[in-house]
Amino acid sequence: MKVTVVGAGAVGASCAEYIAIKDFASEVVLLDIKEGYAEGKAMDLMQTASLNGFDTKITGSTSDYSKTAGSDIAVITSGIPRKPGMTREELIGINAGIVKSVAASLVEHSPNVILIVVSNPMDTMTYLAHKVTGLPKNRIIGMGGALDSARFKYRLAEALEAPISDVDGMVIGGHSDKGMVPLTRLATRNSVPASEFLSEERLQQVLEDTKVGGATLTKLLGTSAWYAPGAAVSGLVQAIACDQKKIFPCSTLLDGEYGLSDLCIGVPVVLGRNGIEKIVEINLSDAEKAHLEESAAGVKKTNSLI
Ligand SMILES: NC(=O)c1ccc[n+]([C@@H]2O[C@H](COP(=O)([O-])OP(=O)(O)OC[C@H]3O[C@@H](n4cnc5c(N)ncnc54)[C@H](O)[C@@H]3O)[C@@H](O)[C@H]2O)c1
Repeated sequence: MKVTVVGAGAVGASCAEYIAIKDFASEVVLLDIKEGYAEGKAMDLMQTASLNGFDTKITGSTSDYSKTAGSDIAVITSGIPRKPGMTREELIGINAGIVKSVAASLVEHSPNVILIVVSNPMDTMTYLAHKVTGLPKNRIIGMGGALDSARFKYRLAEALEAPISDVDGMVIGGHSDKGMVPLTRLATRNSVPASEFLSEERLQQVLEDTKVGGATLTKLLGTSAWYAPGAAVSGLVQAIACDQKKIFPCSTLLDGEYGLSDLCIGVPVVLGRNGIEKIVEINLSDAEKAHLEESAAGVKKTNSLI
């Protein structure tokens, strides 16, 4: 299993580290446009191998795509992150150009690759990757919902005063502060609906805190977060590499599912060796449906800018 990660910055390096520590891939290639940067990160990470007990081989390269040839999975994290006060949508001008050229180069050297798009605005960048590469829809996956769901579970556990392992919940919709649709109705603590424990007001607060999860961290850190994004990407990579058939909310090209088409947006999917093996259509309440439709309209508006 060969995995390429383009962009050896905060998210890319964190993602490579988690993949290596989980020790399921034979090789991770880090690639970055900044001279020597990916080589340096790869060497530093390799020097943790004996300490962390993994055998994954990590190499780095400055934009030499021949080193990525034959990749099974490639993650695109190249691009600029937001600064405090910025929306993800404001990154489109620079990131669209980067994602376009990176996606084309990856597919040129690895025609069978499964692409995972992370760069923001992620839903639009995932849609752009489709337009540029023409890959089948099961082989282009946008990562956002897995991270937003992890943030949702963090806030739920905090409100419930419960261990996170006791909590479950999912966020669908667009990967933006306004577009996220946290499914509080379906959130549970060990199979018991969270609403049995929390008031409507407290659940609403969990929902609001989840939506601004990224912005809260960007304000604290001065740039966007990387540990949870890296871990979320590594979860998707592992589900594909190990053919786990796990359900994650991922941005995928819809063709009538949820009454939506011609856009990429977060919905639950089954991930396995073929990438997106199934789009799972769950029954949404009228309010959730309306929220998802509103979110889709926002994504389409951003798509119109590419
Ligand atoms: N989808 C999500 O859930 C999620 C979460 C966090 C961050 N992000 C996004 O991921 C992206 C990366 O964030 P980060 O914090 O790692 O940023 P970063 O600045 O730390 O790293 C980005 C790296 O991309 C490299 N790069 C730029 N253009 C390139 C090109 N053409 N080819 C190869 N490498 C190139 C840069 O040199 C840099 O090292 C941002 O767009 C950010 O908004 C998405």
